[in-house]
Amino acid sequence: MSVFMSIPTGVLGGIAGVLQVISLLSLVLLLFKVAQFYLHRQWLLKALQQFPSPPSHWLFGHNREFQKNEELQQFLKWIDKFPCAFPRWLWGSNAFLSVYDPDYMKTILGRSDPKSIDAYGFLRPWIGNGLLLLNGQAWFQHRRMLTPAFHYDILKPYVGLMANSVQIMLDKWEKRITQDPYLELFEHVSLMTLDTIMKCAFSYQHSIQLGRNSHSYIQAVGNLSNLVFSRMRNAFYQNDVIYRMTPDGRSAHHACQIAHKHTDQVIKQRKAHLQNEIELENIRKKRHLDFLDILLCAKMENGSSLSNEDLRAEVDTFMFEGHDTTASGISWILYALAMHPKHQQSCREEIQSLLGDRAIITWDHLDQMPYTTMCIKEALRIYPPVPIVSRVLSKPITFPDGRSLPKGITVSLNFHTLHHNPKVWSNPEVFDPFRFAPGAVQHSHAFLPFSGGSRNCIGKQFAMNELKVAVALTLLRFELSPDPTRVPIPISRVVLRSLNGIYLHVKKLH
Ligand code: HEM
Ligand SMILES: *[C@@H]1O[C@H](CO)[C@@H](O)[C@H](O)[C@H]1NC(C)=O
Ligand SMILES: *[C@@H]1O[C@H](CO)[C@@H](O)[C@H](O)[C@H]1NC(C)=O
Repeated sequence: MSVFMSIPTGVLGGIAGVLQVISLLSLVLLLFKVAQFYLHRQWLLKALQQFPSPPSHWLFGHNREFQKNEELQQFLKWIDKFPCAFPRWLWGSNAFLSVYDPDYMKTILGRSDPKSIDAYGFLRPWIGNGLLLLNGQAWFQHRRMLTPAFHYDILKPYVGLMANSVQIMLDKWEKRITQDPYLELFEHVSLMTLDTIMKCAFSYQHSIQLGRNSHSYIQAVGNLSNLVFSRMRNAFYQNDVIYRMTPDGRSAHHACQIAHKHTDQVIKQRKAHLQNEIELENIRKKRHLDFLDILLCAKMENGSSLSNEDLRAEVDTFMFEGHDTTASGISWILYALAMHPKHQQSCREEIQSLLGDRAIITWDHLDQMPYTTMCIKEALRIYPPVPIVSRVLSKPITFPDGRSLPKGITVSLNFHTLHHNPKVWSNPEVFDPFRFAPGAVQHSHAFLPFSGGSRNCIGKQFAMNELKVAVALTLLRFELSPDPTRVPIPISRVVLRSLNGIYLHVKKLH
C-alpha cells in the first residue's frame, strides 16, 4: 500500500517541482523585463528632459491622445504649445523626438545619422536592404552605383513613356465616367505610376494597367503600408517570433510573398532577355543604362559586387518607392486642384497655350509651366507624399537654440507638421501657389517633400517630371471637382494616403 501510494506522490512531487521552477523562472523573467522597462524609461526621461512633452501615461504613452487615424492632425493641435519639437511617447519605454522646425531639420539633415531600426526595420522583410534602408559604406556604394540611372540623358526619353501611361489611365477614366462621374483616384493613379516605373526603370515592354495581375501587387503594397504602421504602434508586435504568430503577422507575410512574386518575375524576364547576346551587345553600347541594367550588369561584370539578395532588395525598393510616392503625390495634387477651381483653370490655360491641342508633351515643355509647377509645389507642401522620416542619433546633437540630445535617441523628421507650422508658413492651411513664385523667400529647410542632405530622394527629378506630365495631361482632358460627401482624411502610412479614398467628380472637357 505504502509503495503503491508513494508512486503518485513522487510524480506529483515531480510535477510540483517543475511548476515551481517554471514559476520561479517566469518571475525572474518578469522582474528582468520590469527592470529593463524601468531603466530604459529613466534613461529616456533624462535624455529628453530639455524638451517638454504633452502629458502622457507612464505605461500607455500618448496612446489616448493620438488616435490611430488622427496622428497628423494631432500634431497640428499641439504646435502652438510646442513650436519646434516634442517627445512623442509610444509607450512607457519607447519615445522619440518629433521635430518640425526648419533650423532643427537643417541641423539633423546636415549630419549622417543612420535610419532608425524602430521605424524602418519593419520594412525590411518587404523591401530588404535596398538604398532606402541601407546605412554606412554599403549605402554609399549603392548610391554611387545607382546615381547614373537618374542622369538627365536617361530621364529625357522617360517623358514619352510617362505620357503614354497617363493617357492609358485617362482613356480608362473617360469610359468609367459615362457610368459614374465620381472616381476613386488613388487606385487608378497607383496602377498608372506602377506602369510608368516598370517601363522606365525596368525596361518592361507592356502596359500593366490593362492586365489583371498587378492589382494584387498594388493591393499588397496597400496592405503592407497599414500592417507596418500598426506594427510600429503596437508594443506586443515588436518581436519577430511573436509577430509571425499573430493574424497581422501572417497577413504581412502573405502580402510580402505577393509583392516578391511581382518583382521576381520582372527580374527573371529581364535576365532571360539579357541571355540573348544581341540584346546584351545593345546594352553595352548604350551610353546610359537604365536602372535594372545597371544592377544586372554590375553583377555580370563583377560577380562579387551584387548578390541576388541585394539585387532583389534594390528592385523591391525602387518598385515601391518609385510608384507609391508618386501615386500619393499625383492624387493629392489633383485633389488640391479640384478644391481650387480658379487655380485649376489657370494651370489648364497655361498648359493649353503651351501644348495647343496636340497634347504631346516632351522634356522641353516641363520647365515652361511655371504656374502649374507652383501649384504642384504648394500641393506637395500641404500634402507631402512622404510625411515623416526618422533617424537614430549616432552621436550627441545640439540644436541652434542650445538644447541637446545624447547619442541613441530617435528623432522623427515630421515634414507634414513642418509644412503646416504657422511659425514657418503664414496661414498654413490656405492653398496659395504664390508662396512658390519666383523671388519669394523661404528658409532653406522650410519645404522638404524630398527630404534634404546626402540622403535626400534619389528620384526627385524623375518624380517632378512625372507629376508635371500627369497633371498637365489630366487637366487638358478633364475638369475636376471635389465630392462633398466624401472628404478625404489624410493618414500617414509610409506614404500619405487617405483613410477613405480620394474621390473626385470628373467631367470630360470639349
Ligand atoms: C513625389 C514623389 C516622391 C517623394 C515625395 C519622395 C520623397 C522621398 C523622401 C522624403 C526620401 C527620404 C526618405 C528617408 O529619409 O527615409 C526619399 C528617398 C528615396 N526615394 Fe523618393 N520620393 C518620391 C519619388 C521617388 C521615385 C520616383 C523614386 C525612384 C524612382 C524614389 C526613390 C527613392 C529612394 C531609392 C530613396 C532612398 C535614397 C537614399 O537613402 O539614398 N523616390 N524619397
Ligand atoms: C489585402 O487585405 C485584404 C483584406 O484584409 C485581403 O482580402 C487580401 O487578400 C489582401 N491582399 C494581399 C495581396 O495581401
Ligand atoms: C568586385 O568589386 C569588389 C568591390 O566593389 C572588389 O573588391 C572585387 O575585387 C571585384 N571583383 C572582381 C572580380 O572584379
